[in-house]
Amino acid sequence: MDRRRFSTIAHAQHEFAAPIASVRARELLRVAGVCPGARVLDIGAGFGGWAALAVEMGAEVVAFEPNPEFVERGRAFGSTVKWMNCNYDADLVASGIFDTVLLIGASHALGGLEAGLPEIDRMLKSGGRALIGDGYWQRDPDAAYLDVLGATPEEMPTLTALCESVPRIAYLTTSTTAEWDHYEGLYRNTMLAWLADNAADVDAEEFRAYSDRWFEAYWRYGRDTLGFAWLVVEAS
Ligand SMILES: C[S@@+](CC[C@H](N)C(=O)[O-])C[C@H]1O[C@@H](n2cnc3c(N)ncnc32)[C@H](O)[C@@H]1O
Repeated sequence: MDRRRFSTIAHAQHEFAAPIASVRARELLRVAGVCPGARVLDIGAGFGGWAALAVEMGAEVVAFEPNPEFVERGRAFGSTVKWMNCNYDADLVASGIFDTVLLIGASHALGGLEAGLPEIDRMLKSGGRALIGDGYWQRDPDAAYLDVLGATPEEMPTLTALCESVPRIAYLTTSTTAEWDHYEGLYRNTMLAWLADNAADVDAEEFRAYSDRWFEAYWRYGRDTLGFAWLVVEAS
């Protein structure tokens, strides 16, 4: 299945590709040092919700995102964002100049969170902060849930293990069930609306089956199994 296409369609109405309410997103950016004149590096920027919000708060943003459709959408509402339509590449940006680095749902872009932390630190200036959003297990995942996610138990830590692996945490919160419900519900509804309008599309049958499976896995397992943590981390 073309997962990138599925994700692009199903996220068409989301503000962020992560379970968080707008008002909390703004507060997280503020705590992470986003303010007028701040320089922000957004790694795995998605369709630019965070970048647009940071620009609204007065920051200058450099955003790396390989999905061209996401970048196109991001360009439409964050005109001053400097978009890099490619995988994150440290050679394309100066190091040590950023007040804030965002790594939200995108630790794979740095080879995993543990491998990525030194890179984030290298990009931050002294006194800078990173906002990291990453998954964790609230409880041991069922085998059937892992099967739908295509994941292994080792792929994510518990919240305790996650916090133990990240030094200099200045602030911590987790996504609420309501934020998850909104994120997954919108993902489901946007795909259902697209399927209603595109029944003859070459991907329609596969997308419907995948959406059915994904949403059932969410209410059956995901709601009490998968967590999403938000950590603001100080530069060393
Ligand atoms: C879960 S989404 C999160 C998007 C955004 N941070 C947000 O919260 O709205 C992860 C994003 O990382 C992007 N990505 C994947 N590999 C990447 C890489 N090597 N470098 C930069 N971005 C990458 C994906 O295309 C996707 O848009």
